[in-house]
Amino acid sequence: MSEYPTVPLSFSRRPEAQVRERAHAFYELMDLRRSIRQFSAEPIPLDAVREAIRTAGTAPSGAHKQPWRFVMVTDPALKHEIRLAAEVEERETYEQRMSDEWRAALAPLGTDENKPYLDHVPVIIVMFRVDYDLRPDGSRSKNYYVQESCGIALGMLIAALHNAGLATLTHTPSPMNFLAKILQRPKNERPFMLLPVGYPSPDCRVPDLARKPLEQLLIEV
Ligand SMILES: Cc1cc2nc3c(=O)[nH]c(=O)nc-3n(C[C@H](O)[C@H](O)[C@H](O)COP(=O)(O)O)c2cc1C
Repeated sequence: MSEYPTVPLSFSRRPEAQVRERAHAFYELMDLRRSIRQFSAEPIPLDAVREAIRTAGTAPSGAHKQPWRFVMVTDPALKHEIRLAAEVEERETYEQRMSDEWRAALAPLGTDENKPYLDHVPVIIVMFRVDYDLRPDGSRSKNYYVQESCGIALGMLIAALHNAGLATLTHTPSPMNFLAKILQRPKNERPFMLLPVGYPSPDCRVPDLARKPLEQLLIEV
């Protein structure tokens, strides 16, 4: 028995044809999502970003611990600080940390250590994973399946932003500890993802990538 009081489920039961149609329409929408690396400096509606973060907050989480925190960065000085620190880590990664195999996997994408868009993109969302909550008496309350829960919430955030008409880059300038420092987050929060959000620049181009067809994704037994 649940220790929460229960309420009737709010669920839209749809006719089968509509279920199929909506499944296909959502696939078509999501198939148009691309990671971009050329952002316009044009402002975006911040309330739409807040709403997408609210959507991320509807994700399921281990033991309903909701082990995430999102920082929406719009301040130019902070964005610049993030850019400089990210480029330091990326330079070290590209020059020292990367294995030949990793370098070869990235080569077709043409990425490098320069991240100029972090300066002019209108919003950077930094998502933090919360490994434990702090009780008012200072003791720790552990969170469960933090990685899985944050991955799901991040996916929902990316989908919500794309659905709204905003583009993102899933960016991991690792190690990302500098983000906790710059954004002055407490020690129970660890950076999970850096997500620049904006409109693509008019000359934005993306690698011509192929996605695995369903037959390679799905095993039905
Ligand atoms: C966990 C993760 C980390 C990533 N890190 C970076 C990154 O640091 N820099 C970057 O340019 N792209 C990064 N990407 C974006 C991938 O390169 C991109 O998703 C992939 O090439 C497929 O392209 P698409 O997103 O347009 O489908 C990352 C993606 C994921 C899921």
